Amino acid sequence: LSTTDVDISAIKPGQSVTVVWRGKPVFIRHREPAEIDEAGKVALADLREPQADADRAKKPEWLILIGVCTHLGCVPLGQKPADPRGEFGGWFCPCHGSHYDTSGRIRKGPAPANLPVPPYQFTSDTTVRIG
Ligand code: FES
Repeated sequence: LSTTDVDISAIKPGQSVTVVWRGKPVFIRHREPAEIDEAGKVALADLREPQADADRAKKPEWLILIGVCTHLGCVPLGQKPADPRGEFGGWFCPCHGSHYDTSGRIRKGPAPANLPVPPYQFTSDTTVRIG
């Protein structure tokens, strides 16, 4: 299937789910206000791959990312309550220690680029279509 429809109605603020799209994990995180604020405050000059949070999340409370570390392809951790989220509160890749922020942007460690945003659209208030 080239698209995947996901019911997001049960994902509470602070929670993420992982779905599979084209054989890859896709993270869907329902961000809390503090995560959105933090992502919006970062100066682009401080980023290895400068991208504004507003250009990555069509609706600020929903962040949707391809969950493959841009270093060597491990799946970063970051799902509450069990996983560490790294020094910047987003995701942490345990393979070689890459830290991603609450917009999924690389902030520390060997990964060269941000976690990519897949194509997606909201087809209703409770459904997102990936792809
Ligand atoms: Fe993620 Fe190396 S694969 S840090």
